Formats: sequence, structure tokens, C-alpha cells
Amino acid sequence: MCGIVGYVGNKPAVPILLEGLKRLEYRGYDSAGIALAEIGRLIVQKKIGKVSQLEKELNSFNVVAAGIGHTRWATHGAPSDINAHPHTDCKNEIALIHNGIIENYNAIRTKLEKDGHVFKSATDTEALVHLIEEMKKYSGDLETAVRLALRQVEGTYGIAVISSKEPDKIIAARKGSPLIIGIGENENFLASDAAAIVDYTRKVVYLEDGEIAVICKNSVDTKTIDNKTTEKQVEQVTIDLAQIEKGGFSHFMLKEIMEQPETLRNAMRGRVLLEEGNAKLSGLDGVKSVLENAQRIILAACGTSWHAGLVGEYMLEQYGKVSVETEYASEFRYRDPIVKPGDVVFLISQSGETADTLAALHEAKQKGAAVLGICNVVGSTIARESDGGVYIHAGPEIGVASTKAFTSQLVVLSLVTLLIARQRGMSEKEGRNICAKLLELPQKVQAILHRATEIEKIAEELKDSSNFLYLGRGYNFPVALEGALKLKEISYIHAEGYPAAEMKHGPIALIDENMPVVVIAPKDRTYEKIISNIQEVKARHGKVIAIVNEVDPRIAALADYLIQVPETADFLSPVLTIIPLQLLAYYIAVKRGCNIDQPRNLAKSVTVE
Ligand code: M6R
Repeated sequence: MCGIVGYVGNKPAVPILLEGLKRLEYRGYDSAGIALAEIGRLIVQKKIGKVSQLEKELNSFNVVAAGIGHTRWATHGAPSDINAHPHTDCKNEIALIHNGIIENYNAIRTKLEKDGHVFKSATDTEALVHLIEEMKKYSGDLETAVRLALRQVEGTYGIAVISSKEPDKIIAARKGSPLIIGIGENENFLASDAAAIVDYTRKVVYLEDGEIAVICKNSVDTKTIDNKTTEKQVEQVTIDLAQIEKGGFSHFMLKEIMEQPETLRNAMRGRVLLEEGNAKLSGLDGVKSVLENAQRIILAACGTSWHAGLVGEYMLEQYGKVSVETEYASEFRYRDPIVKPGDVVFLISQSGETADTLAALHEAKQKGAAVLGICNVVGSTIARESDGGVYIHAGPEIGVASTKAFTSQLVVLSLVTLLIARQRGMSEKEGRNICAKLLELPQKVQAILHRATEIEKIAEELKDSSNFLYLGRGYNFPVALEGALKLKEISYIHAEGYPAAEMKHGPIALIDENMPVVVIAPKDRTYEKIISNIQEVKARHGKVIAIVNEVDPRIAALADYLIQVPETADFLSPVLTIIPLQLLAYYIAVKRGCNIDQPRNLAKSVTVE
């Protein structure tokens, strides 16, 4: 959600900032801007629209100066040139970019306006830059002014500030919004996401909440907001550049769908103990007895990760024989949940930065539960603040619609289930059987991907529909939710997921010849029931797209379209049944001319509440 990039060094800043912004564009893309600080002169250029729009207008390509760049996902103030970041003070000396929300901006603004400050935009961010200007009257230097201003701010921020009075530095600070400092030779970088700087350096320092950094070309100093020096460790980022490029695919989403056989292998590598019928998850070694003794497990997440959590709940209850609740992280802390020491709370998040999920982590921690992360982004805030956890190792996911992260989350949840189930009495034989089924998944996913053209043809026929219904039962109910979410996100078609049996309690009223109904009908214990549900849809002339294991003549006679997926264990079936739904959503959106990787109004990681 919004991207930040910064550069201080001996090279022209604009090309570096632009490249960084392009890599960050998936985080927010309604406007973009840059600022450069030279002695006595601040250059600011910003533009509504994509980074490419900004690029057309830029003209400071050769200026060697400290610079900051921002790509925005609007919260306060509609997308416009004026509301785009950077924002500047009255004297046009200080420029600031910001991710997050300044919650008390109204009070700050009202006071500063009374004191004579003139505001240009409708954003919360501008209040902060004027407040820094005000604090500079007392402090003299930029760093102290930023610190004094931040003490008065409520809300969340990742900020970068430059000034034409101190053009050799960037001041960065974070509370609730990630920032990474890239360490170079006679140059340093700043970014909200490592993707923006891995072209230049792999050495990074993660800024923690409550820290301020002064970044110059030859030094990086970090302190707390109370001005105490902090010691930081330089870490290595391992992202491969090929992973953050499209590699010949027309969209990141398609690339990420197609990568799934490999990402599933990566999620399982070294973790499936076939001989022992168990899972090895080193990140949970420290909490083994906590897991063994937990009376209750809570899975908290948002969006697609929440859907994965729902599948996890079914698995853990069936095999782990432990009571599990899946919670919307965004609701969790506001409803005063009962969480006790001894409970285990898993936070599931691809980005590891989702503000609501992080808030759920804090709530659970404060109530004494063990908090464990299931994250993709290595070094992300949730991963670092957890007591333990498991990385899903899906590699960078750039497409806003999550695909490969979902299937990897499912596989990791299966491994966690196996571990807990073995602790609680599952036999070695059953464990071995599960391991074998897990290891078969990548090739089964590959077999479904080979059917992409078939699915594309179905997409062509259904692309003009205005509504879709997705139905599934048991393990495939969350898949119905996820399939509907994928379609909504990228094609803007209204879609709803339902437990198939709930259809007759309301949604059936919507069914007519114009309503495509995707029914997930693998050969599991609810198979016969779901055939009845298909019959109910057909009786009302709905169009049925059935996801099946084998072409059963009864379903074939009823369904308008059939998509086959290989058989697997019930609890692993979502890893396979979601694949055709990802492809269906993708091809429908392509055929409707939608912006696949940057769907309207969305951003990849939601770092505001
Ligand atoms: O990074 P997270 O997994 O915490 O993100 C959670 C949701 O914001 C995310 O899954 C969102 O729903 C995606 N756009 C789904 O495709």
C-alpha cells in the first residue's frame, strides 16, 4: 500500500527512483511523484496516474542529489496531482512522502492553519510536513524537527523527508509501515519493499517501529524517537531479480499461477519426512510443547489468507483434533476476543505487513497467547514479531490478486496439521500416507495447468456475465469464496461464494439462465449432495461450470462445462480445485480488457487499517 523509495549518493537520483517506483507500483498506483534536494533548491514533480505518466513529465534526469519517490494508494484525498506525494512545507524547503495514516491530521492542520500555514492538498500527510516545518523553528536541524513532529502524531507511518537546507541526507522513520535501508558503496537507499532496491544492493537494515534513521551517502544512523542510538544488523536479501520480472508472461498473475508446481515444491522442500510420516518445521521447534498442549488454535488473517485459514481450520480440527477458530484479523481486536495463555494464534499473511493482521498479532500477544506467523515475505514485520512460524517460500508475489501464495499457505497449513496430528496420536502409517499425497501435488497442479486453453475457451463464453455464483462444500467451501474473490478483484464481475447447501436458503432466488454457477464437485464425502445442488441450479436454468475429478455421466449430463482436476486426499483438494478458478478469473479479466496486475482500487499489501 503506497511505495517509498529513496537514494543518496553520487549518481543522478531520478533514474534510480524511477526504477524503484516501477518495481513498487504493485503496492499502489493512483499517482506518483519524486522530490530532489539540492543546496537551496527543492525539485518536486508529481502526477496522477501510473509511474509512466510521471516519467513523461520528468526533466531532472541528470541532477545528482538526495531524492525520494512515492507511488500512492489513496486514503485521505482523491487521486490527483495535488494530493500525490511528495508534499512540501510553506517555504518549499522540506519534502515528505508517507505510507500510513496520520489519524489526528485534522487537529494538527487546524492548529497550523491558525498559525499561518497554507495547505495545498486534502491529504493527512501534508499536516506532517507543515508540522516538521513548525518544529524546525525550535530545533534548527531536520532530524530533531522530524522527531519532535512525530511525537505529536497519532496513527501509522513510514516516512522519508528531505530538505534543501540539508541536502545530503534523507530522514526516515517508521511506525506500523515497513521501511528498509539498502547499504551501498558511497551510496545508500531507502525503500518500503526490498524489490525497489535489489538491483543495487542486497545488504539491508530493517527499520523497526519507533525508529528514525539519518541516511547519508556514507553513513546510516538509527535512533529511537526518544533519541537513543540503536544498533542495527546488516542482513542479506535473497530475492532473485528474475522473480520480480514477468519473464515472458503477459502478466505477473499468469506467471504466478504457472509457477505453482515449483512454489509448492519450495513450500515442502526439506519439510516432508516421508519415512517418518511427519513434518519438519524448524521455525516451530521452539514452540513444540506449546503446540502439543494448546487447547485452542486461532487462525487470523485477511482476504485470500483468511480463506487459506478456513481450510486450515477444517484440517486441524479433522486431523489435529484440536478446537480451531478462523478470525478476520480486522474484526479480531475490536470484539474483545477471549484469548488466554496457552492458546496458539497463527497469523497468516503473504506480505507479512497487513495492518489488521499485525494488530491481531499484538492483541493476541498482549493476552498471553503464543503468536506464530505463516508468511511469505522473509523479514516482514509479522514474521519478525512472531514467537515462531513457517515461511511459505512462494517467492515474491507481485500480482495484486494472490494466487501462488494461497496454494503455498494451504500446503504449509497441511504440514502444520501433520505435525500437530502426529503429536496427538495420528499413526505413522497415516502420516506417511499424507506425506505421499503432499508430494504428489506439484505434478497434479501441472496437469491442471496443461488445461489452460480449455479454461480460456470457457472464459470466452462467460466473459459478459454480470454475476457469478461459486458453490462448494466442506474443504471446498473456502475455495468457492476464493474463486469468487479472484473474479471480483480482477474482472469487476460481481461474484459470491457460498456453501453449496446454503444456496437454497436465499441465493437460489438469483438463479436464471444468465447466472453462471461454478460448482466445485470433487469425489469426496459430499459428492452425492453436491450433485443434488447442481440439479437444483439446472432446474432453474443456471449455467453450471463443474470442477470434477472424473467425468461422471451424471454430472456430465447436467453441467454446461466440465473442468477435470486429479484426485487427492479430501483436505488437499483445495490446492487443486482453486487452480482452474484462478485461470478462469484470469482469462475472463483479460477478455474484458481489465488491468490484471493492477486492478482498480486495490493494492498489494494493505498496511492501513
Ligand atoms: O498480505 P496478506 O496475505 O496479509 O494480504 C491479505 C489480503 O489483503 C489479500 O489476500 C487480498 O485479499 C488479495 N488481494 C487477494 O487476492
